[in-house]
Amino acid sequence: MPLAAKFESTDTLRTFLGELEALGARITAGTVLEALARSQLRFDDVAPFVTPQPDRYSRRRVARTEAYEVLVMTWLPGQGSGPHDHAGSVSAFKILRGTAHETRFALAADSLVDPISTGELHEGEVGLDAGDVIHAVRNDCSRKEPLVSIHVYAPPIPELRTFSARSAGAAPLMVSPLSRVAYSKISS
Ligand SMILES: [Fe+2]
Repeated sequence: MPLAAKFESTDTLRTFLGELEALGARITAGTVLEALARSQLRFDDVAPFVTPQPDRYSRRRVARTEAYEVLVMTWLPGQGSGPHDHAGSVSAFKILRGTAHETRFALAADSLVDPISTGELHEGEVGLDAGDVIHAVRNDCSRKEPLVSIHVYAPPIPELRTFSARSAGAAPLMVSPLSRVAYSKISS
């Protein structure tokens, strides 16, 4: 079992990780989405990885192999990511507590990104990027409770590629805790 930390995992979490492991080379956007949507994962299953931080949303690794990585993220009210993509990896996430506000962006010719849609994901709902989405996720300031989500990346992403929004003042724009890369590198 490729668990990253020493803790007593629940049967539900073990089952979910076992399903990812069993997918092997068949791990795709569709199979990851199906496994995540079908899973009975609840907040209690990831409680050891819920680590709120006052300065930025937290990312805790649950498991990692060459094929996939599983992270739990905790977002206090007002915390969020800036616009980013997942470097071509499949990215699927499920809300385990709270409500996620997601904004999706399109990359413009001048290398800035423009918002094209917004939406909310509620507890139990699943979001998916099959490999071509630029988005930002945040826990809205008006919310009273932390947002907790579990994320699967397949394969693991080496870094979040971040972008600058044209209307930066309208986005939370907390810089990703992972490394930032220049657009010239992204487009090469
Ligand atoms: Fe993301």
